[in-house]
Amino acid sequence: MKPEILIISPMQQSVHDALEDGFIVHRLHDATDKDKLLADVGPSIRGAITNGGIGVRNDVLDRLPKLEMISSFGVGYDGIDIDYCKSRGIKVTYTPNVLNDAMAEITLGLMIALARHLPQADRYTREGKWAGSGPYGLTAELTGKTVGIAGLGRVGKEIAQRCQAFKMQVVYFGRTRQDFVPYPHYGSLVEMARDVDWLVNVMPGGAATSKLFNAEIFDALGPEGFFVNVGRGTTADEAALIEALQQKRIAGAALDVFEKEPSVPEALLKLDNVVLSPHQGSATTKTRWMMGDLVTRNLKAWFDGKPVLTPLT
Ligand code: 8YV
Repeated sequence: MKPEILIISPMQQSVHDALEDGFIVHRLHDATDKDKLLADVGPSIRGAITNGGIGVRNDVLDRLPKLEMISSFGVGYDGIDIDYCKSRGIKVTYTPNVLNDAMAEITLGLMIALARHLPQADRYTREGKWAGSGPYGLTAELTGKTVGIAGLGRVGKEIAQRCQAFKMQVVYFGRTRQDFVPYPHYGSLVEMARDVDWLVNVMPGGAATSKLFNAEIFDALGPEGFFVNVGRGTTADEAALIEALQQKRIAGAALDVFEKEPSVPEALLKLDNVVLSPHQGSATTKTRWMMGDLVTRNLKAWFDGKPVLTPLT
């Protein structure tokens, strides 16, 4: 008897292909009547797939009484109530590590784009302004600047190494000082913001980090400082960020994540001191394939009675 599984958020084709033979797959995300689907198949669902941002609501979990495991696509898991899953004995897996390089690459890409005005300079060139109005103008440089990384985990460490390759000084913020990490530690985010030129957030979402980057942090970063967010949009007070950008209380921001994705506030679209990216940190062909592969291998391992590869619970 093949295990019945429920796909909760949209998944790439490679995941569907890998599940074809071994599982009976139901798709909640594109069901026209989600309530009916849950009523019909909920009682026989044993496995679920979702991504960490969308996750799964507890009232949906309540309609899956036989659920044994959730295989989550992504390293963040703020959309899944881990304590609730633990209380029900539901195994949760996720996809750490395989996205570290892609995440670090986009972070440095966003930093360079913001410092060197790459999107603006591209527009300037396309619009034929170079010949008409002369060179674009002078921009900022990463070399010699200090970058403060908030959240020096697996992704943060890859970003740190790449920042060093760009001759930047690296410091980090985290609640606890990590042993054997070669960068100065700050236990206070506001103090770090005061001391750095670049503030890069890689922290996960969830209640503990909600609106952590607020007006006080942006003012500490100051008019020469740049803010980069590749963690979760919920970690920043977006209204306070917009105000700080509009009033030039910070120099600029590069954002891959937003408070209410996929909607991006109109006010941000109007600003010229921002670089915007549609939550695509891990979105390379290679990395997304590896994430999908890990999602399906975790699921298969569980239903083969083997240890899962990357457990969260
Ligand atoms: C993905 C992410 O964009 O890993 C995460 O936490 O946010 C990203 O890698 C997301 O999981 C895709 O749906």
